[in-house]
Amino acid sequence: MSAQPPSQSPAPRVGIVGATGAVGGELLLCLEQRRFPLSSLRLFASPRSAGRSLLFRDEPVKVEALTEAALAGLDIVLFSAGSATSRQFAPAAMRHGAVVVDNSSAFRMDADVPLVVPEVNPAAITAHRGLIANPNCVAIVAAVPLWPLHRVNPICRIIAATYQAASGAGAAAMEELRESTEAYLEGRDYPARVLAHPYAFNLFSHDTAVDPLTGYNDEETKVIREMRKIMGEPELRIGVTCIRVPVLRAHSIALTVEFADPITPEAVRALLAAAPGVRLVDDVAHNHFPMPREASGQDDILVGRIRRDVSDPSGRSVAMFVAGDQLLKGAALNAVQIAERLVG
Ligand code: A2P
Repeated sequence: MSAQPPSQSPAPRVGIVGATGAVGGELLLCLEQRRFPLSSLRLFASPRSAGRSLLFRDEPVKVEALTEAALAGLDIVLFSAGSATSRQFAPAAMRHGAVVVDNSSAFRMDADVPLVVPEVNPAAITAHRGLIANPNCVAIVAAVPLWPLHRVNPICRIIAATYQAASGAGAAAMEELRESTEAYLEGRDYPARVLAHPYAFNLFSHDTAVDPLTGYNDEETKVIREMRKIMGEPELRIGVTCIRVPVLRAHSIALTVEFADPITPEAVRALLAAAPGVRLVDDVAHNHFPMPREASGQDDILVGRIRRDVSDPSGRSVAMFVAGDQLLKGAALNAVQIAERLVG
């Protein structure tokens, strides 16, 4: 058969691994709403979900139990079923000829795996060897507004504190937040099942292991390493504290950023007003700034409270507050945007 020019290449056959999960559901919606040009869609989850149907473009699609053999005959597979599943099954999908876009942390720091936020480092996609990693949600939500600033005035140091939603721990954690809030209001006991601590009317340090050598937990270490890799700045100074808050699906981050040269809040606002994937919400008169409820369901990262960091008399530091939907730009949307670039 003669090779076809790219414009005539057939629409890809797409698979979603983890289709029944919180991110999986958003992947389905993103593919549908963005009219992703696919020729077929197959859905995979654990054997518990095999036989269930999920709607795509108003048609039911049967969920299949994930096996290595079942991954044959696909061109793009979007994985969102945790690191262990990606480690076990992504190589099989690649052997069968598919390109994998992996939402887990399994391969993100591998030297030959591009770690991509399309607004930041889209060119990295072309270097893929069958797998592209979707970054940690906090790293994405921070990198989208910081990159357009870094390009004109290099960032020297970032101090971040996060306010992370339940969705980052999956659909079961979102359910735990709903159920434990009801139980709390009704005065009932609610033993935590998914998260490490009581979640209703509470907040706690991110429930990943703390490295005794650094004092940083896994989530914080991921954010630091991944932001450096995405931004192509292996020495960038970043400090971060990751906190889980009782919010359903959008992460917020307080950022204090030191630049190489003096910069004004007005200059930051002007740069961000023109930046892709960013929406300014910075209404000082009405005390209206980014909120996770308003970020939920939105593609853009909301940015506001942009002000001079008064602790730095040099005029090189700015503080701001951002909020972005963890399930969308922090996960599913970013993965689908990567897949869109794969199909050109
Ligand atoms: P299932 O619903 O059958 O358990 P979340 O991040 O919201 O917790 O979702 C995790 C997703 O990963 C779900 O779709 C879940 O399927 C899927 N999953 C978990 N373990 C496996 C596995 N071993 N093989 C395939 N899919 C899995």
